[in-house]
Amino acid sequence: MASRESYSYEREGSATAVAEQPLPYTADKKKPVLVTGAAGLVGIHTCRELTKNGWKVRALIRDPARAAMALGQLPVEFRVGDARDATTLRGSLSGCGAVVHLAAIAIERKGQTYREANTAMTERLISAARAESVQRVIFMSQNGADSASPHAFLRSKGVAQDSVKTSGLAWTVLRPSVIFGPEDQFVNVLARLIRLSPKIFPLPGGGKARFQPIAVDDVARVVRLSLEKKDTVQQSYDLGGAVPLTLRQMTERILTAMGATRRLVSVPIALLRPLVGLAQRIIPNPPVTPGLLDLLALDNTVANNALTEQFKIVPIPFAGDELQYLRRITARSALKSLFEQK
Ligand SMILES: NC(=O)c1ccc[n+]([C@@H]2O[C@H](COP(=O)([O-])OP(=O)(O)OC[C@H]3O[C@@H](n4cnc5c(N)ncnc54)[C@H](OP(=O)(O)O)[C@@H]3O)[C@@H](O)[C@H]2O)c1
Repeated sequence: MASRESYSYEREGSATAVAEQPLPYTADKKKPVLVTGAAGLVGIHTCRELTKNGWKVRALIRDPARAAMALGQLPVEFRVGDARDATTLRGSLSGCGAVVHLAAIAIERKGQTYREANTAMTERLISAARAESVQRVIFMSQNGADSASPHAFLRSKGVAQDSVKTSGLAWTVLRPSVIFGPEDQFVNVLARLIRLSPKIFPLPGGGKARFQPIAVDDVARVVRLSLEKKDTVQQSYDLGGAVPLTLRQMTERILTAMGATRRLVSVPIALLRPLVGLAQRIIPNPPVTPGLLDLLALDNTVANNALTEQFKIVPIPFAGDELQYLRRITARSALKSLFEQK
């Protein structure tokens, strides 16, 4: 049985304590944890981390073939469906003790807007969790997510995050900087563009913006510990890797890991934007969009790193052995990825 204790908490921006409610501090390990976005980068590693540590996992996925490749080795129960659909959500949550909500989009595509996929989907998930009496929710937000952000992606995650915080559920919000790992869509995209570039590689804005890349395995451990540690309820955690790195420093480490050399050339973002806009119109799977290009000029580091401070995890470094997965990228595979239908 889940431990049931009374606690109170304060809604953000309010000094008034919300009425005490009996909610479980820890999820019942005998019941499955629903993981949305289970076949994505964070999802694969979260499912692995949870099952390895005795959690029952129910994976919500859209594409059974892709999920079988990504998760086929793991003892997980599958539910197939779209997480924007309320009926799918209720059916998937039925009988669960907790939900880890990872599903989101970073690039808008036909029929998938930030508003629908990131914000409305989370609001529907909260309603479905309430209806199915699933009290515990871990929400994967984003460092910089803010309902007042001028950037549409960060705003959509910020509004979703606010909904989770005011849901009355036992929530934990995780706010990682950029995540790296074999299936990531940031470092791999940079590496593919490097493979396709001849001798020189353009760095948006000189590559001065700072990031704090965090390994996907470290993020997955935080998800599990959030479910297991009682004091993570009603907490929001900023998460980053070992050290802040500029985009230029990250690119240099990527080049080293790939065994490649390119001259890094500073290009103003304003000059790249029309090119990226054009590429978005003609390439089926564009590596970057004008909106995401703008985010490459924003610092994405964390002041209080919960990875080390609260969770006492020694970060996996963004270097050497950890980036070996980039070596398998060839010019051919890089080109092919641009034409994959999503
Ligand atoms: N990667 C990062 O650098 C980073 C940094 C900070 C925060 N985050 C957050 O971490 C979470 C996981 O990101 P990720 O990197 O693992 O992303 P990812 O690899 O793109 O995975 C996202 C998953 O969500 C699924 N999904 C999207 N819309 C869905 C829908 N309507 N119904 C069902 N499934 C849907 C996708 O399914 P399909 O496979 O079918 O498309 C995909 O498997 C996201 O919330 C993201 O915002 C990521």
